[in-house]
Amino acid sequence: MTQHLVLNRTGDKMPLVGFGCWKVDPQDAEDTIYNAIKAGVRLIDGAGDYGNEVEVGRGINKAINEGIVKREELFVVTKLWNTFHSKENVRPTFEKQLKDLGLSYVDLYLIHFPVPLKHVTIETAYPPGWYQPAATEIEFERAPMHELWREMEKIAESGDAKNIGISNFNVQLILDLLTYANIKPAVLQVELHPYLQQKRLVEWVQKQGLQVTAYSSFGPASFVQLTDDGKTAEPLLGHPVIKEIAEKHGKTPAQVLLRWSLERNVAVIPKSMNVERTKSNLDIFSFTLGQEELAAIAKLELGLRFNNPDSYGFELPLWS
Ligand SMILES: NC(=O)c1ccc[n+]([C@@H]2O[C@H](COP(=O)([O-])OP(=O)(O)OC[C@H]3O[C@@H](n4cnc5c(N)ncnc54)[C@H](OP(=O)(O)O)[C@@H]3O)[C@@H](O)[C@H]2O)c1
Repeated sequence: MTQHLVLNRTGDKMPLVGFGCWKVDPQDAEDTIYNAIKAGVRLIDGAGDYGNEVEVGRGINKAINEGIVKREELFVVTKLWNTFHSKENVRPTFEKQLKDLGLSYVDLYLIHFPVPLKHVTIETAYPPGWYQPAATEIEFERAPMHELWREMEKIAESGDAKNIGISNFNVQLILDLLTYANIKPAVLQVELHPYLQQKRLVEWVQKQGLQVTAYSSFGPASFVQLTDDGKTAEPLLGHPVIKEIAEKHGKTPAQVLLRWSLERNVAVIPKSMNVERTKSNLDIFSFTLGQEELAAIAKLELGLRFNNPDSYGFELPLWS
C-alpha cells in the first residue's frame, strides 16, 4: 500500500499518517514535534488555535537544521481560525502563522471551521478562541465564505500554501463552495472514528476529487466528556470488538483504529505525548483488515460526535 494520498491540482503527496498538535502544551511542543519527526513522522497537523505554533515551528526547524529531514520531505498543515474570516484578515493572519512557524511555506492551509466569528485583533488576544475578550456569548461576523475562499485561493496562487482545504464542512456547504471555487479544496478534515463513520460524506467527498483526513481517530480519547446529546460511549481504545481484532493481528487497538481509516483511503493524524506510542501509530502499513472485521467495526456506528460546538457552553448547532 502506498503511504500517501495524491492531492488534486498540485499532485502533491500527503502522507497517510501524521501527527496532530492539538493539546500539545507549548512547553512540550518543541521536543514533542522534534522527537516525532525523529521517530518518522512526516506530516504535522497544527492550527493557529492550538496556541503552540511558535514551539511546533521550533521543533520542525530543529529537525531540519540537524539534517534529520529536509523541508521538502515534511508536509506541514495549519488552519485559519474563525475570527479571521473577513477578507482583509486572511492574508495577515496567514503571514503571522508562517512567521510563528518559522517557515517560508506550508503544504496545506485549511479553514478550521465554517464559522465566521467577530474579529479579534492579534494584539488583543492570540489565539482568541471562540469568544470576544470577556464575552460569554459568541458573536458572528458578516464574512461570506466565497470571499474567504477567494483569499485562500490567492494564498495558494502565491505558493505560500501549496494546497488549500477545509475542515468541519458538510456536504451542503461543499456543494455551494464547488459552484464558485477556482481552486477546489484539496482536503476535507473531519471527525471520523467507528462511533461517527460518516460513510456517505467520505465517499461523496472523495468522488469530488478531495482527499479526506480523519481527526480524533480514537473517538473519546482526547475529550473529557463522553456525552453528546445525552449519549454515552465506552472508550474506543478499550472496546471489545476493536481489542479482539487487534489481538488477532498482534497489533494494538490504536493501530486497528488508525488502519480502519486507511482502509477507506482516509489519512490520520493521531496525537500522542509518548514517542513510543507515536512510533506505533506510524506502524500501520504491515497489516490489513478483512471484510468481516470491517463489517464488525461498521456495526459500532453511534452517530456520536465529540467535537461539537454545541457542547462548548454556547448554542451553535453546527451539524443540524
Ligand atoms: N479540524 C479540527 O477541528 C480538529 C479537531 C480535533 C482534532 N484535530 C486534529 O486531529 C488530531 C488528533 O485528534 P485528537 O487530538 O482529538 O485525538 P486522537 O489522536 O484521536 O487521540 C489522542 C489521545 O489518544 C492517546 N493516544 C495516542 N496514541 C495512542 C496509542 N497508540 N495508544 C493509546 N492511546 C493513544 C493520547 O494520549 P497520549 O498523548 O498520552 O499518548 C491522547 O489522549 C489533533 O491533534 C488535531 O491536530 C482537528
